[in-house]
Amino acid sequence: MSEKVLSVDHLVINFKTDNGLVHAVRDVSFDLARGETLCIVGESGSGKSVTSKAIMGILANNAIVEQGSITYHGENLLEVSEEEFHKIRGHKIGMIFQDPLSSLNPIVRIGKQITEATLINANKLKQMYNEIISDDLVAYKNVLTKRDIQIQHEQEKFDTWMKDIRSKGNITSEEKANYRLEIKQKRMELKRTIAQIKATAKSNAVPLRAKLKETEQVAKAKVKAYQEQVKQEHQNQMAQLKQSLYHAQTSEAKSAIEKEIALEKEHYINQLRITKAEAKRRALDIMREVGIPDPEKRFRQYPFEFSGGMRQRIVIAIALTATPEILICDEPTTALDVTIQAQILELINRIKQERDLSCIFITHDLGVVANMADRVAVMYAGKIVEYGTSEEVFFDPRHPYTWALLSSIPDVDSKERLEAIPGTPPNMIYPPKGDAFALRSKYAMKVDFECEPPFFKITDTHYAATWLLDERAPKVEMPKIVSERIKNAQKEGK
Ligand SMILES: Nc1ncnc2c1ncn2[C@@H]1O[C@H](COP(=O)(O)OP(=O)(O)O)[C@@H](O)[C@H]1O
Ligand SMILES: [Mg+2]
Repeated sequence: MSEKVLSVDHLVINFKTDNGLVHAVRDVSFDLARGETLCIVGESGSGKSVTSKAIMGILANNAIVEQGSITYHGENLLEVSEEEFHKIRGHKIGMIFQDPLSSLNPIVRIGKQITEATLINANKLKQMYNEIISDDLVAYKNVLTKRDIQIQHEQEKFDTWMKDIRSKGNITSEEKANYRLEIKQKRMELKRTIAQIKATAKSNAVPLRAKLKETEQVAKAKVKAYQEQVKQEHQNQMAQLKQSLYHAQTSEAKSAIEKEIALEKEHYINQLRITKAEAKRRALDIMREVGIPDPEKRFRQYPFEFSGGMRQRIVIAIALTATPEILICDEPTTALDVTIQAQILELINRIKQERDLSCIFITHDLGVVANMADRVAVMYAGKIVEYGTSEEVFFDPRHPYTWALLSSIPDVDSKERLEAIPGTPPNMIYPPKGDAFALRSKYAMKVDFECEPPFFKITDTHYAATWLLDERAPKVEMPKIVSERIKNAQKEGK
């Protein structure tokens, strides 16, 4: 596999709710290689959005990341400070959601929304300053974030312990007194541990903060020097131009010089931030790039004046102003009708090629995957149950759930009856033991209800977590509807 740009390892995410803990993501691992599109496919509720939100750092407040890491450029995104996360999120990882309206401001003209994103992402002085201080800022902030994570962890440990004690019914008054004492002790212990964590963090933070302050001064000075230099050059240039204007003989010569002066003024500003005019030009360029016709006119319109497909293009345009390295698309076409859907998919594929992006594409529709994916990960009940190259998953599927998904794709050509997947996905407050899909699978064996299947290796790139691949399992064939389709597809491919 080529260079990894992102890797998710053993991610476990729960949600606290009034009804209990929702086990949304249960030990998910995958890598994203540079330039590839990885499709994550599975029914609604399988944990796809939660996984991508964890990568973006936008999980709901009641989420608990129980375990795991998300590594990007050597940093664990689950451990970095908000500042650093924001930098990465804003600049390097872009995300497109199912509902474009949710990411657009309904009362601001779309031209302004794209221009503003461009202006923010192209302020040179600010970028220069941030670049100089970023390492020190991150080092300092990470000490604080790690402190907060540690404290939260201790607090949670204590809470769980307390809950355990509270749930003990029918205890004697003597036991009660003992527990009370124990609770008091534990509380004290917790207090002491937290104080210790804070003290350690403080002693680590002090020198880092001092260093940061120093670097901030250096950065300020550098930015100022640059600004001065640009200003000086501008003034010299302007003096010369004014001289020539003074000496100009004809009105043509004069207006030519006046034009030069206007250009020089714009050039000057563009060296510091970018001018509104330049931001607008870039915004229009990006609108053209994502296929919005008549961009000058559409620039002045509001989100509600656009169709769903056009709105999704605008959201993509805004994501691109930050020149991301990774694009996460979470069901970007689910709300669109089929023709428009195909156009947006084509657009995403084209932009991905042109800009050399790596892409995580999330969908519940395996039919969409075929045109997008280099690799496919099939997700069920918070777990990846099969992954492989697109070819392997489509032409040599091994997990009964993948079979079920494949049989449920409507086949436009043969108009054959599609088979809905029987039953419903499990309630993730009580995830089933063993193979979670067993309850809905006619291939389920006794072991599926008892033990969780490990990943069985099919090829170096293809793995599936199903006991059917165990050597002791009886040999079963995939459903006929699936094998027929594969045969047909392979015939067509030849
Ligand atoms: N904030 C939340 N609180 C409680 N449960 C949640 C929350 N967000 C998601 N879930 C649950 O997590 C599971 C996975 O959700 P999600 O990742 O959105 O599924 P999908 O694969 O359809 O994108 C679902 O059972 C969902 O109900
Ligand atoms: Mg979702």
